[in-house]
Amino acid sequence: MTRILPDDLAHALATRAVHAGQVADPLAGAVMTPIYQTSTYRQEGLGKHKGYEYARTQNPTREALERNVAALEGGNHGFAFGSGLAALDAILKLFKAGDHVVSGESVYGGSMRLMRQIFEPYGLLVTFVDSRETANFERALTPATKLIYCETPTNPMMFLTDLRAVGDLAAARGVLLAVDNTFATPIFQRPLEFGADIILHSTTKYLNGHSDMVGGLLVTTRDDVAERLGFIQNASGAVPGPMDCWLALRGTKTLPLRMRQHDANGRRIADWLKGHPAVKKLYYPGLPSHPQYELAKRQMSGFGGMVSFDVGDLSLARKLVERVRIFQLAESLGGVESLIGHPASMTHASVPKALRDDMGLTDSLVRLSVGIEEVEDLIGDLEQAMR
Ligand SMILES: Cc1ncc(COP(=O)(O)O)c(C=O)c1O
Repeated sequence: MTRILPDDLAHALATRAVHAGQVADPLAGAVMTPIYQTSTYRQEGLGKHKGYEYARTQNPTREALERNVAALEGGNHGFAFGSGLAALDAILKLFKAGDHVVSGESVYGGSMRLMRQIFEPYGLLVTFVDSRETANFERALTPATKLIYCETPTNPMMFLTDLRAVGDLAAARGVLLAVDNTFATPIFQRPLEFGADIILHSTTKYLNGHSDMVGGLLVTTRDDVAERLGFIQNASGAVPGPMDCWLALRGTKTLPLRMRQHDANGRRIADWLKGHPAVKKLYYPGLPSHPQYELAKRQMSGFGGMVSFDVGDLSLARKLVERVRIFQLAESLGGVESLIGHPASMTHASVPKALRDDMGLTDSLVRLSVGIEEVEDLIGDLEQAMR
């Protein structure tokens, strides 16, 4: 179980991003945390060691990342996993057959698949609700409910959940609240401050920011939850390797800078798309036309680089994603490079079509992960493809 260092919360976010969780290298004084590429540690005698026995259980590079992200979220404990879904898997293992989870329905397709196709057959009960209305969570609660789970903004519909209201509801009813903060990152949204108990990240995305590793991370302030998550992390063993932890740790150092640029570019592109005749619907929480714009301003300090829009016709969507030159057609998001995706056939293909249609996740919906390139080049690229 990894706990932040005594001074990790002492400074502002940009300083935490660079320094939190990292200790001076005892051997050479290396300024950057070394990659402890080892599976085991030499012991001086029976039961005599430096606190490290076996690398599934403890690894210094992993611990530095866990502390760093925990400090960025304002939490006390961090747990790194081999992917974002492995992190969600660990949350769901806090519960047993017969326990009930209420989840937003517009979550990442793989998150819904994990709950529906892995955990429901084991007896976990899951109800999916429209997470834009707190009353929907409240109505779905039963005496067996142990967890409210939401993603805000959601992938790819950019629906928001009112974190304060759902945090209050969870506290009043004695259930845990876990929030997937992958899209907003702690730079723009801090769910622990609204009452969340657990934060989930796919570190694959903005935290790493360079599209060169896959990972997940959980943060909590609660010692009881941390105790259990630490046990699950070790007992189930879905831990990341030290190289991937190091890559993510390198990424978080520039997270505040990168998010500022993603946000500036995202706003500019959303603004440009707003006036384009081919765009039938546009989903970006930073636009006054977004139905939850007031909520976005209340609980987010920036809106980021994720922009979804509907061009009304699958063949037009296909042409667009195939004709862009700077944007690349690819799964994933949050890297420095701009990506374009088709959620219905890519990230959300495992979500039943009826539910996709219900949410507005049509076959003609396109999702942009706006990178940090020169924004006028990105607009020029979209313009030539849309022409
Ligand atoms: C919002 C969100 N949460 C979780 C995940 C799962 O993360 P990973 O792909 O690292 O398992 C994703 C992946 O796209 C995501 O977009």
